[in-house]
Amino acid sequence: MDNKTLKKLHQWFYKNAVSLPWRPTDLSSKRDPYVVWISETMLQQTQVATVIDYFSRWIKRFPDVSTLATTKDEEVLKYWQGLGYYSRAKNILKTAHAIVNEFGGKFPENRKQLEHLPGIGKYTAGAILSLAYHQNEPILDGNLIRIFSRLWGIDFLPTSKEHSQIYWSHAQDFAAKSAHLNNEALMELGRTVCKVRDPLCHSCPLQKICQANLTQTTSQFPPSKKHVVKNWNGTILIVESSDGKILGIKGGHYFLNNQLVLPHFERPRGNDTTLPPQVEEYLNTDHILQTNYLGTFRHSITIHKICANVLHIIMSKPTTKCLISKRDLPQNIEFRWIEKAKATTAFANSFSLKAIKLL
Ligand code: ADE
Repeated sequence: MDNKTLKKLHQWFYKNAVSLPWRPTDLSSKRDPYVVWISETMLQQTQVATVIDYFSRWIKRFPDVSTLATTKDEEVLKYWQGLGYYSRAKNILKTAHAIVNEFGGKFPENRKQLEHLPGIGKYTAGAILSLAYHQNEPILDGNLIRIFSRLWGIDFLPTSKEHSQIYWSHAQDFAAKSAHLNNEALMELGRTVCKVRDPLCHSCPLQKICQANLTQTTSQFPPSKKHVVKNWNGTILIVESSDGKILGIKGGHYFLNNQLVLPHFERPRGNDTTLPPQVEEYLNTDHILQTNYLGTFRHSITIHKICANVLHIIMSKPTTKCLISKRDLPQNIEFRWIEKAKATTAFANSFSLKAIKLL
């Protein structure tokens, strides 16, 4: 990016950067990588206005990575409650332990090692490297995608590898020097000026080089996501043991494969409230005492529109014995029996929690 444009961007940022609890007053100072990691992880799927309070409470209770790593998981998760997407909090815990145990409490200073840590992808690694270590590393989030699409009139989204590379090369261009300033200035610009709807082009430091502004076509960029909906019909099982535990399963399933979920099986649409045939792979059906139909369940996960029958199965025996030999099961499946009282924390996804509510 040319110096004149960068100068305008910096001037705009210095004048307009709002004060945020994770942002130092001196915008060009090096940040604490721990602070960057927590704030950027919280900001990934949540609005700045919501994150402010959560971040302030978090940093007061867990001021550094070693405090975090030595606190019980349940307590840490309480400080995330309400932010949603609990996999982010669980990954934060795993990464905190890795930082303390494998890196002596210090965040790695290179992309490869950072991206190896749970929950740290290209974006968060770029944010830590640029904002904390002042390395000229790129970032790409929704704000930057919108800016680049308008700036260069790009009429596709980074949904394929090839298209993603094009966006990352624009990100790289902005990060070639003073990435710590450019990256954050662009995020701020995207949030406050180059907004999804009604962008404030007259206040934009990039207005003179912006293709969409110059041709008055900002509403056409970026192109909207194609609205694909996939219907998923099936059966969800709430398998309960005689001692009051519910069966959770991790892996080998259709939805949320890396989380503990209720077993679920795809079936043709209809009112079939009998046991799905695949159940025999998981449970010894001789030990089933009762099968009750609890109702229809409707839910959406990304593009999937789910419509499922929920069955409540009561097993007679100590339930782990009901499982057939692990050898015969589809790969990478983990079973856990969860006490009912702990179900809301163990099943950290609304897919399972909403179905359990039918009990
Ligand atoms: N959105 C996500 N991270 C941000 C940051 N560091 N500054 C401004 N907006 C953001």
